[in-house]
Amino acid sequence: MYEDLADDFDQAVPFYASFGRAMVNAIDPRSDSALLDLAAGRGAVSRPALERGCSVTAVDAAPSMVAHLRRDLPEVRAHVMDVHELAFGDASFDVVTAGFALDLLDSPITVLREAHRVLRAGGLVAFTLPGGSHDSGDLSFCNRLYAKYSGYLPAFEQPLVHTLDAASDLRSAGFTEVSVEEITVEVKIPDSESAWAFLTKNGTGELILSLPPAQRDEFRKKVDDAFARLDRTAVLKRTVRLWSGRR
Ligand SMILES: C[S@@+](CC[C@H](N)C(=O)[O-])C[C@H]1O[C@@H](n2cnc3c(N)ncnc32)[C@H](O)[C@@H]1O
Repeated sequence: MYEDLADDFDQAVPFYASFGRAMVNAIDPRSDSALLDLAAGRGAVSRPALERGCSVTAVDAAPSMVAHLRRDLPEVRAHVMDVHELAFGDASFDVVTAGFALDLLDSPITVLREAHRVLRAGGLVAFTLPGGSHDSGDLSFCNRLYAKYSGYLPAFEQPLVHTLDAASDLRSAGFTEVSVEEITVEVKIPDSESAWAFLTKNGTGELILSLPPAQRDEFRKKVDDAFARLDRTAVLKRTVRLWSGRR
């Protein structure tokens, strides 16, 4: 799925990029850190880490995401790789990050064990997962629309994300100093066209696009109507949980 999304991923509204920047600010890596960004996508975490002077390696399973990474961030060593089986030696990195990815993976615990293996003693693992407030700012009405239309959505029968017990998985993988904090970002959405692109061209876009045409058109109209009613720039608000642990 992400292979086909790469060209548009996070381009209309810098949602993931905003969280990536907030995540790097929160973990505050040293400028001489060797940082491995797992499931890096278009570089939401890799870019701000690079800007801090970190030596960044990024991996993603989707070749098209990696192609964009190589073009956009040539200083990043980008590889097509399954994060369940990292082709790096033991104790190779100071920091391992994963933005919005762990709950999409087949076996988060396997990935955390791999993160533990490739980290040096004292190294940090940090990843974001959905959680916290459900306030989506000016896009809060979309949450109600998802609930209203969920009966029409075959994709909902097979959850795209898994629930995981991050604290328990971190400890099982061998991490200590397990902690969690909430991060909230606000992202401006210039117009309904951008909002629609944001809603349909990220990981959950498939849900909207698999609606029957009548419901999809109705969803789109409600987005257009909501933007027409606003007399200011719309703001998308989201809160996520940032988990971390030490090797
Ligand atoms: C929601 S995106 C997040 C991308 C990026 N971390 C960010 O914060 O913008 C999830 C990414 O995980 C990648 N991915 C999914 N399964 C993977 C796997 N098994 N190994 C490596 N990458 C994977 C997808 O290709 C996609 O780029």
